[in-house]
Amino acid sequence: MKSTAIAAAALLLASAVPGFAQGYPTKPVTMIVPFAAGGPTDVVARIVGEHMSRTLGQQIVIENVAGAGGTTGSTRTAQAAPDGYTIMMGHMGTHGAAPALYPNLKYDPTKDFETVGMAAGTPIVIVARKDLPPKDLKEFVSYAKQQNDKLNEAHAGIGSVSHTTCVLLNVQLGIKPTAVPYKGTGPALNDLVSGQVDFMCDQIVNLVEQIKAGSIKAYAIATPERSPALPDLPTTKEAGLPDYQVSAWNAIFAPKGTPTEITAKLNDALVKALADPNTKKRLEDLGGVLPDENGKTREALKAFVAAEVARWTPVLKSAGVTAN
Ligand code: MLT
Repeated sequence: MKSTAIAAAALLLASAVPGFAQGYPTKPVTMIVPFAAGGPTDVVARIVGEHMSRTLGQQIVIENVAGAGGTTGSTRTAQAAPDGYTIMMGHMGTHGAAPALYPNLKYDPTKDFETVGMAAGTPIVIVARKDLPPKDLKEFVSYAKQQNDKLNEAHAGIGSVSHTTCVLLNVQLGIKPTAVPYKGTGPALNDLVSGQVDFMCDQIVNLVEQIKAGSIKAYAIATPERSPALPDLPTTKEAGLPDYQVSAWNAIFAPKGTPTEITAKLNDALVKALADPNTKKRLEDLGGVLPDENGKTREALKAFVAAEVARWTPVLKSAGVTAN
């Protein structure tokens, strides 16, 4: 009998016990981050997880399970016991782009998870090593076309946000840079700072400190408005690339079958974290965009994931990209 079936059966028995969810959680909760420590997904998970732990009265323990553009950790979560003690921080890559890129994906983002809630929107910034010759986005576009595959692009694996958002950029520019995959854009950023790679499309929450320190170069942010966290950084529209508009997001999921009372408790803890002034400030200082009231519900996230899968699938299939 499959381990997941045993787990589900055990949970069914346990949840039949009155008050099963009322006492939840009675032990620490594992939050799987499907990328290496130190990257944007990890940063958002640790910031919200810290405050959620206080509300829940149990520690949220981050477990980094990297690989395959975040699909390894997402698969681990989908197959975990639906008892509320394994959740994950997913995002636009793992729960939006992945089905288009992994024909044999072992989970369906729209069917194999219960939604807990949206944590933060994460606008995309085009960044480069600080001594890359182009001074602005227009020069970068010309340079990238001239360099083509001699240009190295870092990303966090096929299907990751950094991969998919740069696929969009590369298709628009008609360039084919050489991809350098990492287990997360935390380690990728280290190599960008040290000049081992040339550029990256990454989530702003990973980049603000390095951009402000001048240890990497930022060309533009791919959202209609500038970010309050980087007020001097032009938008792609201002910088001459109006069609490059893309943003990512990070949200919490639990395995399918996790009792509603439990996902409701987790959603309540997440909503309280986002309402906490210090937690809110930490996320917004890094350029995170917090969901509005309607965007904080489990139902809103469920509808959003379905829309994201529907949106990304044709875009990526037309780009001819797959993980194989
Ligand atoms: C990505 O999808 O690029 C990831 O968010 C990178 C990371 O979190 O390390």
